[in-house]
Amino acid sequence: MSHDAKRQFYQHRPRRAKDLVSGSMSRLEFDDEAAQRLEGLYRIRDAARRRAIVREALGASPGERILDVGCGPGFYCAELLEDVGPSGAVVGVDGSAAMLGLAAARCAGHDNVEFHEADVASLPVEDAAFDAALTVQVQEYIPDVAAALTELARVLRPGGRAVVFDVDWATLSLHSDEPAITERILEAWDEHLVHPSLPRTLAPKLRTAGFEDVHVGAHPFVTLEFDPETYGAANVPFIGEFVAGRQGLTEEDARAWVAGQRALGERGEFYFAVTQFCFTARKPR
Ligand SMILES: C[S@@+](CC[C@H](N)C(=O)[O-])C[C@H]1O[C@@H](n2cnc3c(N)ncnc32)[C@H](O)[C@@H]1O
Repeated sequence: MSHDAKRQFYQHRPRRAKDLVSGSMSRLEFDDEAAQRLEGLYRIRDAARRRAIVREALGASPGERILDVGCGPGFYCAELLEDVGPSGAVVGVDGSAAMLGLAAARCAGHDNVEFHEADVASLPVEDAAFDAALTVQVQEYIPDVAAALTELARVLRPGGRAVVFDVDWATLSLHSDEPAITERILEAWDEHLVHPSLPRTLAPKLRTAGFEDVHVGAHPFVTLEFDPETYGAANVPFIGEFVAGRQGLTEEDARAWVAGQRALGERGEFYFAVTQFCFTARKPR
């Protein structure tokens, strides 16, 4: 695997000096290259399916003001502009300038959208300014989730709605001819974020942050095909790139594992499943 290939998307080691996520132990650096690659990942069929789940849970109406916390490359912002229409507004916040550049480009031509570079624990918006807010696959990277959720509650109006979507990576189940190395690879993969199983504790965290009416929906993303339009096949190469050099895994180990998964696909034996969780909650009136 080339040096450039290794650098793609997930960095192998935290580079905290350049980390825009202040105080974070996140293993991810959302720089230009990573942002471009993540934007590609979010074009796949399963990413569109996930956005449909979130959009339905959020239930944005014409005229509403919506905040996207950790907006990334702005796919949600662009779609939510359709839901709120010209009389509504969408604000995206992210800690990565690279992500915000893509998000702004995606929403170009709309005068009712704005973006801010900031940390999720310190949102640069007024109290009670939004009807609803979403934060999708962001909180699992945040060391102090309690502080971030309290901040989320602050910016919602009384009765305002929140959607918090995260993955329980412990539900990741895949078939492999080499279960021992697969187990090591999945252990190393857990290092890519701060909270590999955040959904397990999100409900009490939301209540403690001041939310009520907390509900959750579980959404399996499962595939039998090594099809790059699926969440599973799209993530296998990322996992391989991330784990090389961690927990005693060599680049050759990782390369062989990814090739093995692809070979399973060619033989019709690929299986990848992971469950993702969509929490909804409301700020008391
Ligand atoms: C996996 S991406 C998800 C992007 C977007 N929510 C989506 O689903 O399309 C995680 C995003 O969270 C942002 N992020 C991570 N930690 C952050 C923090 N502490 N403050 C602000 N943004 C953060 C990253 O820059 C990145 O854009």
